[in-house]
Amino acid sequence: MTIPFDLITTDPNSSARRGRLHTAHGVVETPVFMPVGTQGTVKGMLPESLHDLGAQIILGNTYHLFLRPGHDLVKKMGGLHRFMNWSGPILTDSGGFQVFSLGKLRKIDEEGVRFQSHLDGAHQILTPESSIEIQQALGSDIIMVFDECIPYPATRDYVIDSTERSMRWAKRCKQAHNRQDGSALFGIVQGGMHEDLRRKSAHDLMEIGFDGYAIGGLSVGEEAEVMYEVMDYTLPELPADRPRYVMGVGTPENLIEGVRRGVDMFDCVMPTRNARNGVLFTSFGKISIKQAQYREDERPIDPDCDCYVCRHYSRAYLRHLYQSNEILSSMLNTMHNLHYYVQLMAQVRQALDEGNFATFYKEFYQRRQSGVV
Ligand code: GUN
Ligand code: ZN
Repeated sequence: MTIPFDLITTDPNSSARRGRLHTAHGVVETPVFMPVGTQGTVKGMLPESLHDLGAQIILGNTYHLFLRPGHDLVKKMGGLHRFMNWSGPILTDSGGFQVFSLGKLRKIDEEGVRFQSHLDGAHQILTPESSIEIQQALGSDIIMVFDECIPYPATRDYVIDSTERSMRWAKRCKQAHNRQDGSALFGIVQGGMHEDLRRKSAHDLMEIGFDGYAIGGLSVGEEAEVMYEVMDYTLPELPADRPRYVMGVGTPENLIEGVRRGVDMFDCVMPTRNARNGVLFTSFGKISIKQAQYREDERPIDPDCDCYVCRHYSRAYLRHLYQSNEILSSMLNTMHNLHYYVQLMAQVRQALDEGNFATFYKEFYQRRQSGVV
């Protein structure tokens, strides 16, 4: 039993796809952007506000919830959906990214990753089997395999060894995954920036067989062009009838370029993290709300945006909140940025439905070139 994925339309002039993914907690229209809710909350957002701005599915993190409050507690409290009051679909990352950002505090062997908690230094281990067990205890709808996100740059030998290990771990994840709860399991393609290694990784995963396929190891410091090349040679290898997810990507431009190449799902901390730093996304590019030029600016962040923030607040007020370190600054900025990302994908879906993706693509870049208003 695989989770149903309907391909509704494919753009005749590119590889962009319009799809529908059926999960245990509801349907996800693709292409989709998934807001990141690392610690059982999308920082600064009420779940109902997330729903209201059009978020369909959110991402949670195995690493953080395992360390605090612990997956046993979350399970006891009725699972992550109930615990955090989000009734829509949840995808959980496996810990294969967070644990590798710990640097000196971790050690990899065939069994898994030994590490010290960033919270209290306690010694811990994550393995393919424990990562799957944790994600199932959380009640995840889409479970990710436990892998290594390879740093960049890395030697070819390191990439070969790491990718082969991640593929052996993927096999163990598939064996450990219990399908009774209706959860889906996605594989993650690694292979660094090497075409032959990416192809081999994709084929190794397809041989094991997954409900969907992610591309990992991107947005790790490589040039955007390199990322697009990896997408160009990896995506055509993946089965057309299964969802494709590029992990941890990216800017609005990265999303549009990914869609054009056939990506269905994205997640990134960029809209939420940047919001807390006063960086706001608009249809004409990014603005930094702390700048003096917005001191007396009565206009909304983005005149093209119909979010709650743009309907009620001026740039001058948002600058004031930011300068005063007010909690509401993070809340409103996050609401606008997530609305921008989520609605960008809604516009993409509409363009695909109407057969207008080429025009949409051209206008997306034209608006950015017209410069900040
Ligand atoms: N998030 C961003 N990149 C990656 C990756 O390569 N693996 C995992 N598990 N998560 C990611
Ligand atoms: Zn807005």
